[in-house]
Amino acid sequence: MSLFLPLAVSGLNRGVSVFHPASPATESIRHLFILVLAISGAIFLVVEGVLCYSILRFRCRSSDPGTEPPQVYGSKPVEIAWTAAPALVVFILVLVLARTEYEVRVRPPKPQPGDEALFVTVVGRQWWWEYRYEYFNGEALGFVTANELHIPVGDAERARPVYLTLVSADVCHSFWVPRLAGKTDLIPGRQNSMWLQTTEAGLYLGQCAEYCGTQHAYMLLRVYAEQPSDFRRWLENQRKPAVNDPSVQTGRQTFLGLSCVNCHRIRGTSAAGSYGPDLTHLMSRATLAAGVVPNDRLQLRRWVADPQQIKAGCLMPSFGLSEGQVGAIVDYFLTLR
Ligand code: CUA
Repeated sequence: MSLFLPLAVSGLNRGVSVFHPASPATESIRHLFILVLAISGAIFLVVEGVLCYSILRFRCRSSDPGTEPPQVYGSKPVEIAWTAAPALVVFILVLVLARTEYEVRVRPPKPQPGDEALFVTVVGRQWWWEYRYEYFNGEALGFVTANELHIPVGDAERARPVYLTLVSADVCHSFWVPRLAGKTDLIPGRQNSMWLQTTEAGLYLGQCAEYCGTQHAYMLLRVYAEQPSDFRRWLENQRKPAVNDPSVQTGRQTFLGLSCVNCHRIRGTSAAGSYGPDLTHLMSRATLAAGVVPNDRLQLRRWVADPQQIKAGCLMPSFGLSEGQVGAIVDYFLTLR
């Protein structure tokens, strides 16, 4: 977090800047942030101003007689002032904070036909994100994907809100896409919820914002906000089982014959593990290992041969596969679009 935070607040990278909100929730958060900054800035200037003035005005001069100045004990007006003024400031902050909370915490409604709302369950895992697509427009979806969240954008007629249910499979994580929403923790044994909504299509970057182990810094987030037609096309493709390309049968058999199937699922095959990322449409994702490297032949080969060289400490071990096995499996993966 220490590296990421200055980036996030500097505004240099619009992709993660809290000063470029792209949703109603982050708009409210920015207002609150600027107001709190202004109030604390004003307090800082007053306090430091009085301090500097006093240092200069009452400093020891050579003309001083060298005895202690008159001592003053207690002053009712001063004590009332320094109790009332902070109390007033705190009261104002409580009011604006309550308003922001009300604007940001939207409870997820029940999915209904025609609502054009998307419901996704996000599972935080060491160190990647699992997305269980539950409902869109009231229709049950029931597919699982990883690391790259696709959402539809709203327009003047339809808001197309996205409701996330956040859970954890292991330790605490925190879902933070600075331009779309505030942070929300994923806590073992608890369900949190979150609301995203935007009218701006594009890629939004984010980061796990709660220390969760060795690779916490590389638990990156990518949210693709798409025009409704693109989003529906993506959705339709994700709902299909994996293609069975006859030209990569060697790789397919190799994969299905190894212990890969204990952790990974490829719908339409006997691989039904649920512990690692679902690979049914692996090549529809732009990155591997939660946004760490591009998802291409070279990185896939490195990953399958030894994931630890890309993400040390991750839960997938090296299986000591031969060059030939790695090549065949990657050829198979490249067909999973
Ligand atoms: Cu997950 Cu930090």
